[in-house]
Amino acid sequence: MTQHKEVQKKWGKELWIANYDYCGKLLILNKGFRCSMHYHKNKDETFYINKGKVLMEIDNEKKIMLPGDSVRLTQGMKHRFTGLENSEIMEFSTHHEDEDSYRDEVSGEVDLTKLNLPKEETCLVTGGAGFIGSNLSLELEKQGYKVIVIDNFSTGTKENLKGFKGEIREIDVSRPFEIKEKINIIFHQAAITDPRFKDDNEMLRANLEGFKNIIQLAKKNDAKLIYASTANLYGNAKTPMKEDQEKEIITTYGKSKLEMDNIAEQLKDQMHIVGLRYFNVFGPRESFKGRAASMILHLSSQMKENKKPRLFKHGEQKRDHIYVKDVVQATIKATEAKSGIYNVGTGIATSFNELINILNEILKKDLHPEYFDNPYNLKTYQSNTQADTSLAEQNLRWKARYTLKQGIKDYMGWLENE
Ligand SMILES: NC(=O)c1ccc[n+]([C@@H]2O[C@H](COP(=O)([O-])OP(=O)(O)OC[C@H]3O[C@@H](n4cnc5c(N)ncnc54)[C@H](O)[C@@H]3O)[C@@H](O)[C@H]2O)c1
Repeated sequence: MTQHKEVQKKWGKELWIANYDYCGKLLILNKGFRCSMHYHKNKDETFYINKGKVLMEIDNEKKIMLPGDSVRLTQGMKHRFTGLENSEIMEFSTHHEDEDSYRDEVSGEVDLTKLNLPKEETCLVTGGAGFIGSNLSLELEKQGYKVIVIDNFSTGTKENLKGFKGEIREIDVSRPFEIKEKINIIFHQAAITDPRFKDDNEMLRANLEGFKNIIQLAKKNDAKLIYASTANLYGNAKTPMKEDQEKEIITTYGKSKLEMDNIAEQLKDQMHIVGLRYFNVFGPRESFKGRAASMILHLSSQMKENKKPRLFKHGEQKRDHIYVKDVVQATIKATEAKSGIYNVGTGIATSFNELINILNEILKKDLHPEYFDNPYNLKTYQSNTQADTSLAEQNLRWKARYTLKQGIKDYMGWLENE
């Protein structure tokens, strides 16, 4: 018995070929339609993608399939296809006696924008074992990107990447290196990040050489480049700080980042390059930074031990504290923004005295600060930070979602469960 049958359906077409020991079918699935397939005989089957692009869902796994891809399914697996473009799927199995052994269910048209599709882009995260880089790498992976982390582990640690499934490579970006894979997006976080690093020349060399090497890699791959700059380059200039205001360089760290921003300015018409001036970031996976970790970590640790939180006299310096989850979202949003340099802060400045009040409330304590003289040269100490966020709101289409209190609560919860 051989059958050839062509059926036109609302979602596309079915072409049948079946005989006693072989059964095949060509499904022509229109874009946006979903087809669930069940067959109720105890056999395996194979699907090949002939044309178009299809989202294959097997149990809870999602995979985008392109022409030439195939998948073998064993009996009992739940599977369905969604046409991301008009697609042709060849379906083969053996030993079906007739088409009645199949049951196809088409669930109608699907809103493709709501599918939370796995991404096809490969991202490279430099400094991915560090504080922000690790949070970013884990989130990118969760969103379906393929992620490669590179880090020289000068400060970062693999501990930060618990649960990360992608590849981790030990590479110093400030020295010549090679990445063979095609990269679509580079998130450049690697840098010497401690403003009080002992060797100014090495800081300048490493941060600038690393950036230049990454620009070459981005150009070679025609990749988008999103890199971390800093609010440190505004120094003690007026607040709220605007991207184009006069800069006040008070550290070599700030100098290295301003030079990076100047290089990026020159390139913004030639490539997708976005610099993000992060303000004072706090959150999970920063504790390895020791002295350079956020004040929120330091003060909360003291207070959890019922010690008086220690502040420089008299606690009225202000910071724009931003939660790392917001920073990660801004960084990912930058892949869709126009080239440029944007502040990533909340726009709200909070004094350290106010911060202690918030921490007392969250930690259920009643501790008063102990003030001591600021040991740093005031010329190199940033007294106040506060972002003007209007350019980021307009061009990144992003605004911080966590209030300081919400961010700290979320963070304290994470620390407890760690
Ligand atoms: N955390 C903040 O509040 C903050 C504020 C403003 C800007 N930034 C910027 O954001 C980025 C990330 O900061 P972070 O707080 O996660 O710092 P971090 O020190 O935790 O992370 C930096 C990572 O880069 C790695 N690294 C350093 N030099 C490298 C090199 N030459 N090659 C490869 N890897 C190298 C380190 O091992 C580390 O894992 C940095 O560029 C930093 O300047 C951070």
